[in-house]
Amino acid sequence: MYQAPRGTQDILPEDEPYWRQVEKQMRRQARLANYGEIQTPTFEETGVFARGVGATTDIVEKEMYTFLDKGGDSMTLRPEATAGIVRAYLQRGMASRPQPVKLFMLLNTFRYDKPQKGRFREFHQIDFEAIGEADPSVDAELVALHWRLYAELGLRDLSLQVNSIGDHNCRPAYIALLADYFRQHLDGLCEECQRRLETNPLRLLDEKRPQCQAVLEGAPRSADHLCDACRAHFETWLSYVEAAGIPFEINSRLVRGLDYYTRSVWEVWPPVVGAQSTLGGGGRYDGLAEQLGGRPTPGVGFASGVERIILEIKDQQVDMPSPTAPDVFVVYQAEGGKLAAFRLAEELRAQGISADLSFGDRKLGKQLSAADRARARFALILGEDELASGTVTLKDLQSGGDQRRVSRHDLVSVLRQADAATQ
Ligand code: HAM
Repeated sequence: MYQAPRGTQDILPEDEPYWRQVEKQMRRQARLANYGEIQTPTFEETGVFARGVGATTDIVEKEMYTFLDKGGDSMTLRPEATAGIVRAYLQRGMASRPQPVKLFMLLNTFRYDKPQKGRFREFHQIDFEAIGEADPSVDAELVALHWRLYAELGLRDLSLQVNSIGDHNCRPAYIALLADYFRQHLDGLCEECQRRLETNPLRLLDEKRPQCQAVLEGAPRSADHLCDACRAHFETWLSYVEAAGIPFEINSRLVRGLDYYTRSVWEVWPPVVGAQSTLGGGGRYDGLAEQLGGRPTPGVGFASGVERIILEIKDQQVDMPSPTAPDVFVVYQAEGGKLAAFRLAEELRAQGISADLSFGDRKLGKQLSAADRARARFALILGEDELASGTVTLKDLQSGGDQRRVSRHDLVSVLRQADAATQ
């Protein structure tokens, strides 16, 4: 028997309320802050990510699903949304629209990662981007939107971590300082960190292994080495976040795993922080458009893993609506009643009333248990009497089984009234 590929999932109907709720909240926040929906392709030319995300990141070094297509071109299943969205912004001439262009997307993403709780090879992201504006108040709008998304989903006790990692003016000197510091403390670093030091010293700050922590704690902080423009940007950003009433913690070791970031970076952590628990993160990427061959264009955004949000909703035991259930379940006498039941179910569906019924000639009792299992609001019983008299017996399965006869003529309006009464 075939199995789903490692690190992929089948999302079953019982999880549907969670997905629906998260998607609904994403759309609500997008509407409240005037972000428009975009869809980009599931795969892009490999260079979009190799250049955009950065050649020395884990994503590009180890995790991309890259393949040669039948024309011999190298393509990659998107490991994230931002590079593809900026590619679309440039290609579709969005620079000539009013700036910033504010976009959002719900997408599946692919990373050849080590599967574990909250870490998959195919997962889903909610992604928001504002492209074409350098003003730090845009960074604050996105942080506020990100925060509200979780708050309105019912998540509590989250923590917002923020940092600034500077820009092309001040970051090279900071990175040189950092690399010098690490070289002086090589003995306190694991092998992986020693290797990374040569390719991407900034990423060491994100290292979680206990044996490296003492050295990392003493490392120079980017926020202490910002140029004047970056410092002013950082301070203004945080004053706007504060004005939105959102508590934050400045975390000098927050650097994020993608190379396109400049200045603002942030992450939202759940109350119990594990290695794979970051709910979402983002930041500014003022150099990305140029990396992709476009004109210099500032941008800022964030993404959040849908599976991680849902795990957190479950961990925090937030109430969710029940999975959808039919309004009615049509129950019939196997002999003679089945065609009438089928027709009735179709008539109700045509009227916008959801209806289900048993197949395969089951006995009445079995059909009634099926109606219970489907969590239908009503069983509509079509027995011999009912068929003969043009009526149905309406059994309310959610209020202890009250029964009454209703004429077929009145059925739709009775069901609509019952529905309205429970809304
Ligand atoms: P990222 O931090 O790589 O950022 O991913 C964002 C979120 O995706 C993570 O916080 C996490 O919730 C989820 N995620 C990442 N990897 C996995 C995985 N293997 N399994 C499950 N969930 C995962 C980005 O992707 C940037 N594009 C965010 C951004 C948008 N920055 C600016 N704009």
